[in-house]
Amino acid sequence: MEIVETAAGCRDLLNGARALGRTVGLVPTMGALHDGHVSLMVRARAECEVMAVSIFVNPLQFGDPEDIAAYPRTLERDLVVCSEAGVDIVFVPGVTEMYPSWPSTVATTMSVTGVSERWEAASRLGHFDGVATVVAKLFAIAGPCRAYFGEKDFQQLAVVRRMASDLSLPVEVVGCPTVREADGLALSSRNVRLSGEERAAAAVLSRALAAGRAAVDDGVRSGAALAAVMRLVVDGEPLVHLDYAVAVDAGDLVEVGDVADPSSVRLLMAAQVGPVRLIDNCAALSRREVRQLERTMS
Ligand code: PAJ
Repeated sequence: MEIVETAAGCRDLLNGARALGRTVGLVPTMGALHDGHVSLMVRARAECEVMAVSIFVNPLQFGDPEDIAAYPRTLERDLVVCSEAGVDIVFVPGVTEMYPSWPSTVATTMSVTGVSERWEAASRLGHFDGVATVVAKLFAIAGPCRAYFGEKDFQQLAVVRRMASDLSLPVEVVGCPTVREADGLALSSRNVRLSGEERAAAAVLSRALAAGRAAVDDGVRSGAALAAVMRLVVDGEPLVHLDYAVAVDAGDLVEVGDVADPSSVRLLMAAQVGPVRLIDNCAALSRREVRQLERTMS
């Protein structure tokens, strides 16, 4: 496994791989790696001949200085995780490698309108511009590849897909399912900041999503009713403070009034639990049901 700190070094290695006819997989991360990240690496390993992981805690996507200061950094362990997952190249740039003018303003940034203007954007000003900017840079450094992102951050995935498509970037964006703990809590680097009680309470998010999905199964078609079902479940957990629970169109993330076609609807939620803001989401139909639907339609 090669560890590179410069953009030029990373680009050279990946250009070299492509020159030998090898396909490249890229997994962008901010480190503090867990099994959710590993699932992306496993998928990339299976589908690409050379796999690169980037580890960079991107200051542009953090609004709150306390949040970035508290973000877990576990580089030594992360490198062991990468090595065990069969990563070929780990790109670990310093902040001035990515933003030479840092800490002065970054002059050129990326902005995706529409999908990045709602939900998470309301409480995290500029967050998706920061994500789009760093991902655009990572794509420019990596060159033509498949890039793996988790559905856990569904809005981020939508922003990245939109950017890659609108700018005709030579990158195929691949969305991967959310990895969860046994009680349903989606794995997240931030979970380590939850107390024991908060950690137990946090599982209510996935229970609320399951209740929303069950309501769709039962024939509920009103977006507002689905939101109310999810809200009711979270209200039963005093340590969890709901920010939003909505049924949206999975493409443009606009709230749906009526769920005409459940296979194109996503249930999204965000909540504050102690010091941590947690997000989660799921399809309004289970994967099995979507596959069944596809079979009947073909
Ligand atoms: P980070 O939070 O480290 O996540 C890196 C990737 O892992 C993202 O694509 C995220 O969706 C995915 N991921 C996180 N938890 C997951 C889970 N439980 N199951 C499946 N995938 C999961 O997301 C970022 O970093 C940054 O915003 C980044 C894209 C790297 C840009 O800085």
